[in-house]
Amino acid sequence: MLFDVLTIFPSLFVSPLEEGILRKARQEGKIRIQLTDIRDFADDRHATTDDRPFGGGEGMVMKPEPLTAAVEKVRAAGNTGRVILLTPQGRRYSQEIARELATESSLILVCGRYEGVDERFRAAFCEDELSIGDYILTGGELAAMVVIDSVSRLLPGVLGCPDSAERDTFSRRLLKHPQYTRPRNFRGVDVPEVLTNGNHAEIEGYRFIEAVRRTLARRPDLLIQEEFTPQESRLLQKHGLLEAIAAVKAGPTG
Ligand code: ADE
Repeated sequence: MLFDVLTIFPSLFVSPLEEGILRKARQEGKIRIQLTDIRDFADDRHATTDDRPFGGGEGMVMKPEPLTAAVEKVRAAGNTGRVILLTPQGRRYSQEIARELATESSLILVCGRYEGVDERFRAAFCEDELSIGDYILTGGELAAMVVIDSVSRLLPGVLGCPDSAERDTFSRRLLKHPQYTRPRNFRGVDVPEVLTNGNHAEIEGYRFIEAVRRTLARRPDLLIQEEFTPQESRLLQKHGLLEAIAAVKAGPTG
């Protein structure tokens, strides 16, 4: 998959792309990331990419010409993918959107800065707008990195263990169960017995129940649309969790 990233700070991306799974995915040609410095497309001596807003007010607005020239360059170089602007005004990014993007063969990620980008560039070129959450970053670069990371790990062959992406939190709407590794006893606290007895059905059941408990405690909103199999429902009943789930699904007035 090809990611073209348009930014005024290309060096922000260098280190995150040179470690771990993303580094390996790049080396193996499963992902390709091309960084374009929007400044290279400014047409004045000072390489200006922003200017004061018409109508007055705080901050600076990214000028339309360098952004447009940068998009046109990556398009001309063959990237026909969706142009996505990273902005707090975008639709809220989620695992579902990550899965949707992972089906595409290329993307163009535009990192906004300052108070935003000129509306004429946004309207003419940005086919999608994404926000990674209800908080304001200093720019779209970290958000673009979040998109690259979360999409890349869904691509075939990127994760060592192909099941991992499937089993993750949000593949189904449950948080992940608690995890333990060696030593068996750490500062007086033992690993739960069930995890050490080798009974896989029991382990699966324990993990499922702990995942539901954690989701109920931390993110009950995720359970509203979650469906359980008859076998899961029996297990939930046995652990006294069915009523709490029914209460969440019924909502505050139910
Ligand atoms: N740029 C600034 N804040 C952002 C956010 N929350 N998501 C995406 N891009 C941003």
